[in-house]
Amino acid sequence: MKKKIKVGIIGVGNCFAGLIQGIEYYKRNKEKKIIGLMHKKIGPYNFDDIEFTSAFDVGRNKVGERLDRAVYASPNMVNWVKLPKLKTLVREAPISDGIGIYVENKIKPIRKPLSIEKLKRGAEEEIKNTKTEVLVNYLPVGSQKASEFWAEIALETKCALINCLPVFIASNKKWAEKFKRKKIPIIGDDVKGQIGATIVHRVLTKLCSDRGTVIDKTYQINVGGNTDFLNMKEQARLESKRISKTQAVTSQLIENISPESIYIGPSDFIPFLGNKKLAFIRLEGKMFADIAFSIELRLDVDDKANSAGIVIDAIRLAKLGLDRKIGGPLIAASAYLMKHPPTQFTDEKAREMVEKFIIGTSRR
Ligand SMILES: NC(=O)c1ccc[n+]([C@@H]2O[C@H](COP(=O)([O-])OP(=O)(O)OC[C@H]3O[C@@H](n4cnc5c(N)ncnc54)[C@H](O)[C@@H]3O)[C@@H](O)[C@H]2O)c1
Repeated sequence: MKKKIKVGIIGVGNCFAGLIQGIEYYKRNKEKKIIGLMHKKIGPYNFDDIEFTSAFDVGRNKVGERLDRAVYASPNMVNWVKLPKLKTLVREAPISDGIGIYVENKIKPIRKPLSIEKLKRGAEEEIKNTKTEVLVNYLPVGSQKASEFWAEIALETKCALINCLPVFIASNKKWAEKFKRKKIPIIGDDVKGQIGATIVHRVLTKLCSDRGTVIDKTYQINVGGNTDFLNMKEQARLESKRISKTQAVTSQLIENISPESIYIGPSDFIPFLGNKKLAFIRLEGKMFADIAFSIELRLDVDDKANSAGIVIDAIRLAKLGLDRKIGGPLIAASAYLMKHPPTQFTDEKAREMVEKFIIGTSRR
């Protein structure tokens, strides 16, 4: 029988709800063309060779619950298809710095958390018992310490790590070295959506540069109505998110832009938008003979459909890394799938590099 990829989830929120329901959607609709994956098959792995063998969260309505039920528990909002019954139970994770002030009364964390030592032992046992081999970190923005806890767990349990949020692990030299030494692959940091504000802004920026214009000023404002956006109202949790999103765009410029001439950030929470995300992008610049031009764009997209396919590809690429015993950041996959990779490339180049990685002509 063909091998499955055993995946553990950290944070059973909206992103994961989209990922697991998306896989189920295509499993049930076999006649449909699969949209939003690099390939139906990556190496020997089909999109539905992914199994969710362990899961960790802190919500009192999720911990102890069967994973297929926890996926629909409040404040999650994705409800695309009904999932079949799963054996996997959601286990308790350390709260640490995972819960921001604005989302606490939505997530409702467990009242009497276990000690960190017990949770560490419990997580390691669960990963071992379930033979989990790839961990996906879906913690909220600003979860620096909690993400470091799970990065250590990945190192201890020899699980590949996919770091979906803007806490710098794959792109941090010290962490990258730790994964290299232990021969464990990591893909990160901060998922780049399929048609998200980042990729659209990057491509427009590169277009302007490639066509020889100069960008004087640019902004990108994002609004949404889910807990991710509510959490991002807390400015103190946003520092790395701003760096990640800004560098994703400035890395595509030939001529530098001064920091006061670029503004990129999630800017507000509008409850009735739910998982709909709106992005407003503006670029102002000069073309031939110093004549001014501008581009104004409004993007309207489901934020969770935007990230799910990307992570399905990341899981399969991380598994290829494990199979090939490659330690440290997978450079090509991180550059193509993430906003803040260890090394930035153009998206075209990064895609080419990933294709070479898949067929094995490039090691990372
Ligand atoms: N397009 C996208 O959706 C996109 C793109 C890039 C990055 N991301 C990032 O992915 C992450 C997940 O997004 P989401 O929409 O699923 O968020 P979410 O708020 O819906 O889910 C977060 C989940 O983590 C749980 N949680 C909170 N603290 C925890 C802790 N200490 N330990 C374990 N679980 C904890 C919550 O209970 C919740 O289930 C966010 O950081 C987001 O910014 C998303």
